[in-house]
Amino acid sequence: MAIAIFSSGGDCAGMNPAIKYFVENAIFRGLKPYFIYDGLEGLIDNRIKEANFGDVSGIIHLGGTIIGSSRSKRFYNYKYRKQAYENLKKLNIDKLIVLGGDGSFRAMNIFCSEFNLKFIGIPATIDNDIYGTQYCLGVDTALNMIRIAVDSIRDTANSFKRAFVVETMGRECGYLALVSAITSGAELCIIPEMDADLNKSKKRILKEIENGRRYVLCMVAEGTKATQKMKEWLEKEIALETRVTVLGHIQRGGNPSVYDRLMAREFIKEGFDAILSNSECKKVVVYNKSKFSLLDIETIASNRYKIDTELLELYKRDYE
Ligand code: F6P
Repeated sequence: MAIAIFSSGGDCAGMNPAIKYFVENAIFRGLKPYFIYDGLEGLIDNRIKEANFGDVSGIIHLGGTIIGSSRSKRFYNYKYRKQAYENLKKLNIDKLIVLGGDGSFRAMNIFCSEFNLKFIGIPATIDNDIYGTQYCLGVDTALNMIRIAVDSIRDTANSFKRAFVVETMGRECGYLALVSAITSGAELCIIPEMDADLNKSKKRILKEIENGRRYVLCMVAEGTKATQKMKEWLEKEIALETRVTVLGHIQRGGNPSVYDRLMAREFIKEGFDAILSNSECKKVVVYNKSKFSLLDIETIASNRYKIDTELLELYKRDYE
């Protein structure tokens, strides 16, 4: 029996620990482990190689993914999916573990239905925007990368009496900006899921400045496209010289945090339990209220992620 793993879409810290636990679980459970390099593109182009302990020793602390990742347009085409299937068939691989987001899971759902394969999805994206799970691998490390950056920005902001607008990633999801705003004590947070009452914020911030505040931090989620607008607003309404920092791909790198290593271990264990005990398996391992469970890919595909309302309340309680 053989099982393969690949990463798909945006890489994140936590993928390498997951890859290490994948090889260990496979060998201990009597399965032949394979790596598919460079995501779906590598699956189409037959970049598949048997893995062993040597491949995964010394990778637990590395960010990114040692097996590479990609976003594949070709996989939308049946001709290439058939080619991908032939590559797996030659190696007797009928089980797949996918580290990625809901786009990758949807692609796998189609593929595995067409060719009678089993797959398990492990949510792995810094965006934390997958329906049905409160946690995706990589989020904790990304939040810590943001925290380090914001802590540094605060030093210079304070020295110069300036405002800083810090833009985080996350596509349409404001999770990274929201949690970073709360945990960095930012004065403003602009995310797609929340209407900002800037008049109210202005009164609060001006009062704080009157009361000795020297600088202002504003976290903006990239999905709002409001970074430049907030710079102009801070200069005009708050009268502070303002600089912009777009954190960009720094947020995707860094050594996996302790939490992401632990979560990788558990996500993979749950994935193996599921794929070995279900005769038909097209499921995603999800994590809610400190418990792991499985969700059908259809449920994930047909619902849209919503940000945790308790988190929104937590922010509003102090600032809105
Ligand atoms: O989905 C992960 C993510 O890092 C998003 O937060 C971001 O919008 C996007 O990927 C960036 O994509 P790329 O690496 O292709 O520039």
